[in-house]
Amino acid sequence: MALRTWSYATRTLHLKPALHELSRRCRVRSLSSTSHLFTNSNSTQTTPQNPQVTIQGRTFARDDFTTVTPKIISRVGTNLHNQPNHPLCIIKEKIRDHFYRSFLNRRGNPLFSIYDHLSPVVTVQQNFDSVFVPKDHISRKKGDNYYINEEFMLRAHTSAHQHELVNAGLDAFLVVGDVYRRDEIDTSHYPVFHQMEGVKLFTHHELFAKCNNATNLSLFETGSTARTPDKQETHTMEAAKLLEFELKSIITSMAELLFGKDIQCRWIEAEFPFTHPSWELEIFFQGEWLEVLGCGIMEQKLLQSAGAGTSVGYAFGLGLERLAMILFDIPDIRLFWSTDNRFLAQFRDQDTNQVKFKPFSKYPPVIQDMSFWCPESDYESNDFYDLVRNVGGELVEQVAMIDEFTHPKTHRKSHCYRITYRSMERTLVREEVIQIHALIRETAERELRVEAR
Ligand code: DAH
Repeated sequence: MALRTWSYATRTLHLKPALHELSRRCRVRSLSSTSHLFTNSNSTQTTPQNPQVTIQGRTFARDDFTTVTPKIISRVGTNLHNQPNHPLCIIKEKIRDHFYRSFLNRRGNPLFSIYDHLSPVVTVQQNFDSVFVPKDHISRKKGDNYYINEEFMLRAHTSAHQHELVNAGLDAFLVVGDVYRRDEIDTSHYPVFHQMEGVKLFTHHELFAKCNNATNLSLFETGSTARTPDKQETHTMEAAKLLEFELKSIITSMAELLFGKDIQCRWIEAEFPFTHPSWELEIFFQGEWLEVLGCGIMEQKLLQSAGAGTSVGYAFGLGLERLAMILFDIPDIRLFWSTDNRFLAQFRDQDTNQVKFKPFSKYPPVIQDMSFWCPESDYESNDFYDLVRNVGGELVEQVAMIDEFTHPKTHRKSHCYRITYRSMERTLVREEVIQIHALIRETAERELRVEAR
């Protein structure tokens, strides 16, 4: 499996991937997002060799970077987060209303605005450079992202919009949208999921409004001081600490609103390229500490480069699927893409604090293994995961690598994957699975140049 750069839960971007990978592996994996189990999309389409890629009417030239697949492109525009009564939309609205209520201007109107229709097609510059992800950072890997070509990609996080919105003059906003990352397939991982990003900027007056001695306080150091674990070099200690307090207060009250007043929260120090200091929020839920979001004090150089260098601010990002799965007890991330009434009706017009998802019966799985010799170069497990999804469609519940070894003499690498097939609508017939499995093998041999064993 590729070294994971994104946290297992919110799938947040970490600066220290290796460390984080270790801790991730030691914990039970949980969520992110989905597909839909209830349509019969046994798509047998695999990567076409069309020199162009079309996404929502825009055409892009394919190049060596291209990793988007037709299957993934077909998800663009679905916007589950905007579908009324969808659990992702319910959570979005709850959090949005919390921010609307918490920050009012003098006329009593909300200060925050929400952007939930921004296209997921962004430039690589927006996704990575605008938030200071180092050029050689492994989160940029082709194997982990859906690149459209060298210049464009499907956003891997909603932070891709921070810079452009601050640059447009906004100082209090939420961004909600679908994000895309190549990944393994299981009940808690899906290559499309949804995030909410929040940004709040403060002028001197706004930050120190509640302080008696505001005129003696400053946002910025006059000389340059060193960056410490507590603050950036340009910020004063009072600005950094007050921002931290404001950030943690609003996020804690959001967690209480979602999970109830008695929810236990803890802050874990974290590292993100676009915030310092940074934290993750964990909540104690049903006997486990679960990570639910990443946040921090925005890098001043980001604000400077976006034309807001006289303000300071905080930002946060959270995964909506994760929150929805915890809140509503939803066991399988693919359910979010369901159009089955048995799923959606459970959330319609309900008091959301009471709703718990009642699973409908699961049909039995059919499990098949596949082993092959990998080509000498240019092969990543994520290529295989995408291919399995393209060919097997919604019948694929999980693909897991179960064995890997290198032949002692030839040094060839062999991988063995276990594929779990399951329909949410009916019992699968073994023969039908064997056919799909054979098709996956043939397609992998042809397109990934693997050699079946
Ligand atoms: N964009 C991050 C991710 O997906 C999450 C995140 C962390 C967003 C910290 C933020 C933040 O705005 O301050 O990994």
